Amino acid sequence: MSNSIPQRKITVVGAGYVGSTAAQLCAQKSLGNEIVLIDILEGRPQGIALDLNQAAAVEGLGARVVGTNDPRDTANSDVFIVTAGVARKPGMSRSDLLAINAKVIISVAEYVRNHSPEAFVIVVTNPLDSMVHLCRAKLGFPGQRVMGMAGVLDSARFSWFISEATKSSVVDVKAMVLGAHGDSMVPIPQYCTVNGVTLKDLVDRASIDKMADRTRKGGAEIVNLLKTGSAWYAPASASVAMASSILNDQKRLLPCACLLNGQYGFEGIYMGVPAILGKNGVEKIVELPLDNDARILMHKTAGAIEADVQLMRDMKLL
Ligand code: 2OP
Repeated sequence: MSNSIPQRKITVVGAGYVGSTAAQLCAQKSLGNEIVLIDILEGRPQGIALDLNQAAAVEGLGARVVGTNDPRDTANSDVFIVTAGVARKPGMSRSDLLAINAKVIISVAEYVRNHSPEAFVIVVTNPLDSMVHLCRAKLGFPGQRVMGMAGVLDSARFSWFISEATKSSVVDVKAMVLGAHGDSMVPIPQYCTVNGVTLKDLVDRASIDKMADRTRKGGAEIVNLLKTGSAWYAPASASVAMASSILNDQKRLLPCACLLNGQYGFEGIYMGVPAILGKNGVEKIVELPLDNDARILMHKTAGAIEADVQLMRDMKLL
């Protein structure tokens, strides 16, 4: 079994719930033969790695998980999934986290740049759009190799609500959410279908608006229910789907935070857009024709991202 595993190294930064679940998924999907889980907390990544390796004995998985506090153990990784940072508490916005998590991203970017200069980096830490912007600025890597996970997660949330409302299997639902990973995100009903049938032919406008609104607040809904943390299964699945598309050159069209170079009318900011992910990272940003409502919302969401980027400049982080 282990012989069929590609010789690849994936590092998951942060051994919280998102990080440890992402490491588990990477092992289950045999994305690489070595999965490194790194955290600043002593013992936690080592303990989770032991547990996952022992689970692998039951599951018959050949990937080896290494738990560590030493950045040198991440050297020459092919992909980083960066989940480290503080999660939201009830009532907190993702931007409240900016100052705290920026410090984490800066220290991670330093060892990624020094020890894995060819790596692809998928940022999950919130506030997502500004953290991926900061990460790329500190890495100095081409934008194609640094991206943020959000659109896959937000679209998955929209998909689930559509599945419930239409009483159809979530397997058949395709949803699209663009823009920031925050309250200003832009669900795009125009591109949502159930096995090819457009959403507006299945439910009325009021239900679509309700689902879109619930999607925008989808992360907070879970934070409020859990009271002591935020979502982890869907964020982990979403980030591993992106890593898999890159490592296996699947060329999936996934909405994710990409560095824009004129697409959708924006320049030099990271924002959630549909992109083809393959062996070169972000291989193509797909520009969808958008209706007027969506275009207005895309401008609003870009404004929210630019405000966070400006905040980072004011704080001399950029
Ligand atoms: C969420 O939306 C953690 O931002 C993540 O659940």
